[in-house]
Parts: sequence; structure tokens; C-alpha cells
Amino acid sequence: MDNGKNVIEIHDLKKSYDDGTIKALNGLNLEVKEGEFLSIMGPSGSGKSTLLNMIGALDVADEGSIHVAGIDLMKTKELSEFRSKEIGFVFQMHNLIPNLTVLENVEIPMYETDLSSDQMRERALELLKAVGLEDRADQIPTKLSGGQRQRVAIARALVNRPSIILADEPTGSLDSQTGDVILKLLRDLHEKENVTLVMVTHEPYVGKMAERIVNVLDGKIQN
Ligand SMILES: Nc1ncnc2c1ncn2[C@@H]1O[C@H](COP(=O)(O)OP(=O)(O)O)[C@@H](O)[C@H]1O
Ligand SMILES: [Mg+2]
Repeated sequence: MDNGKNVIEIHDLKKSYDDGTIKALNGLNLEVKEGEFLSIMGPSGSGKSTLLNMIGALDVADEGSIHVAGIDLMKTKELSEFRSKEIGFVFQMHNLIPNLTVLENVEIPMYETDLSSDQMRERALELLKAVGLEDRADQIPTKLSGGQRQRVAIARALVNRPSIILADEPTGSLDSQTGDVILKLLRDLHEKENVTLVMVTHEPYVGKMAERIVNVLDGKIQN
């Protein structure tokens, strides 16, 4: 699994807010290998979400360099194409669309591909099966428990076969038992689909599920 190739390379990355008063990332360096399961830990406000948003090209850094899946994110003009091809997001709040069915929610990322509606349906059902929810395909998300909704969000994140899953406090709004199930599911899917998994958490027991832990403090990796 570890062939030594970096899928994420970040050098001296800086991002500030409020005209420079808040230095969310302050010269951060990080390398992540293809197929790795990395956990990013650190106190609230240390820059974890900002870092994840930069990796997923949801936001652009001020200075430094960031290469993800071979793309120079400071230079490319195709950020949304990069996102839909390479990245699957799982957030603390699952962000499902309440008036779409479970199946339709999982299909959303495929709307930007060339797949036919039959192919989309087939792939979405495959992922719902992988997360144990194929029998819920036609329900709306409000009928599901918190843990089930997070499983739908994980299915949605994986549906386009991304090279990287970015998970920001994926168990943050769940009780610890349900959180455990979600973490094991993420880890299993990471192994099965050989996808790189970068997970932000501030809970030590959650971080320990990963192959490697890095700590962020004041917008930098601590070593
Ligand atoms: N969009 C934003 N506008 C202004 N300040 C922000 C914004 N996003 C994050 N920050 C600030 O940047 C710092 C790092 O935030 P964040 O990356 O969310 O930390 P963490 O995820 O580790 O809790 C914090 O001081 C936060 O208030
Ligand atoms: Mg955060």
C-alpha cells in the first residue's frame, strides 16, 4: 500500500483572515503518502479545518506551495474539476439535502460526470450496500439516525472514487458508540478502496485509529 509516493505535498503554507490579524496557517509543512491514513489533531482554533479546506481546494492559500494528487493548487484554474475528481468530503455535520432521498444524495457528486442515470444509480447502490444502508435508498435522510446519516455522507464521499477522503471531525456530532462504528467503516473503506484518508479530530482515542498522527498548533505542524 505504501509505495512511497506523496499524494499531498505542502510547503510553508500560509493563510490569514481579517486582513492578516488571524494567521490560521503560519508556514505549515506536511507530506502524506498515497494510501495513508493520517490523523490531524490539535486544539480548537489551531488551523485544522483551514488546512483541510486548502487540501480540498475549498479555499486558496495566501503563500507557500500545495500539491495534491499531482495538481499545483496555487496555480490551477480547474479547482472544481479537481475537487469532484480527486476529493471526497465528510464533515461533522453530514450536509445531506433533506428533500432528496438517500440514493439521490449519494448520486449528487456524479452529476458532474458523464455517467448515465442507470450507471449513477448502480454505483450509488453499490456504496449504500458498502455502508449497510441499501434498504434505506428510497427514504429521506430525516428518517435516519445520526449515525446512519453519517454513513450516507461517507457513501456520497466515495461515490466518484476519489484519491483522497477528507474527514473533518466525522464523529464530532455522534455518541461514542456510533462514532466508533463510523470510524471503523471509514478505516475499512480506506483499506478496501485503497483511498488516502486524512481525518481531523481533537479526540485522542479517535486519532489512535490512524496509521500516523500529526499535531497542529498555531497553524503549524508540531514535531
Ligand atoms: N472564514 C474565516 N474567517 C475568519 N477567521 C477564520 C475563518 N476560518 C477560520 N478562521 C480562524 O482561523 C483560525 C483557525 O481556524 P480553524 O482552521 O477553523 O481551526 P480548527 O479547525 O483547528 O478549530 C481560528 O482563529 C479561526 O477563528
Ligand atoms: Mg475545525
